[in-house]
Amino acid sequence: MNLIKLTDREFEKMAALVYDRTGIHLPVEKLGLLSNRLRKRLKALDLESFSAYHDLLLDKKGCEEELPNFLSAVTTNETYFFRNEQLWKFVGTDFVKNLVETRTKGTKTVRVWSAASSSGEEAYTCAIVLRENLPSFSSWNVSIIGSDISSRVLDKAKGGVYDAYAVSRMPPEVLKKWFKIADGSHTVRDELKKMVRFQTHNLRDPFPNARFDLVFLRNVLMYFDLEMKKRVIKHVGDALVPGGHLIVGDVDPIRTIPELSAANQCEYQRPGVYRKPGAKSAFTGNQRMATK
Ligand SMILES: C[S@@+](CC[C@H](N)C(=O)[O-])C[C@H]1O[C@@H](n2cnc3c(N)ncnc32)[C@H](O)[C@@H]1O
Repeated sequence: MNLIKLTDREFEKMAALVYDRTGIHLPVEKLGLLSNRLRKRLKALDLESFSAYHDLLLDKKGCEEELPNFLSAVTTNETYFFRNEQLWKFVGTDFVKNLVETRTKGTKTVRVWSAASSSGEEAYTCAIVLRENLPSFSSWNVSIIGSDISSRVLDKAKGGVYDAYAVSRMPPEVLKKWFKIADGSHTVRDELKKMVRFQTHNLRDPFPNARFDLVFLRNVLMYFDLEMKKRVIKHVGDALVPGGHLIVGDVDPIRTIPELSAANQCEYQRPGVYRKPGAKSAFTGNQRMATK
């Protein structure tokens, strides 16, 4: 079988388009990966070259129809429930403790943003952890937003149906409690679904009317170049309320890169966790020092 080849020039053009639409930086080593992923789209559209596909994406009407497929082809959506257990322990203990201590008056509201949520596993994990750990849960008003650039993964998130791999790190009793399990598929219970909603959002742009207490920005910065990383860190900092927490996960590029540390409005608390200054915290200065 004759495979259509992605030439160096075509790679440059496609990589520039990917960067323009998503901020994802594709070095030349990714030529093979990109051509494999896009070749499926060429086949589906019956196109004879990558240049023809590039032209289609530049055409207004073609782009409208093809963009969701293009975005799902160029993004990496790997995720699963309870990814990085340590961070979920933090959310269920210290983060919750901080909320309880600081929400003494008025409506007890918690707003969470799973930025680059992929198919929703992170957002629903957060719903489970808050549901299980917030004392007197019915007195809280919890809203969790999952957003991603790819509408494909968001459709899956809205459906809330997952395979065995996605739930494989969950303790069996938690799985049984929060999912309907039938024929190898696991469907998130309505109680959790009510806490979470999903919408498309490009991290290149600020999140509209954002006032979040907790933002997850995990396993996505690594796809961006320095300029885009700085831009995203700025948007995420702006989206947090004073005292809000930012969780970047175990692949944390912020602390080691001075330009990113400078762009970060939050203070380091412990591996993967930052906090925006400006409001009362349940953590004392000493505790923060001790975890540095
Ligand atoms: C590897 S997944 C991370 C999922 C989840 N946060 C986790 O840690 O398990 C990365 C996600 O980032 C999304 N993404 C990539 N570029 C984006 C952008 N510019 N704006 C919003 N989402 C983006 C991809 O579509 C993908 O679903």
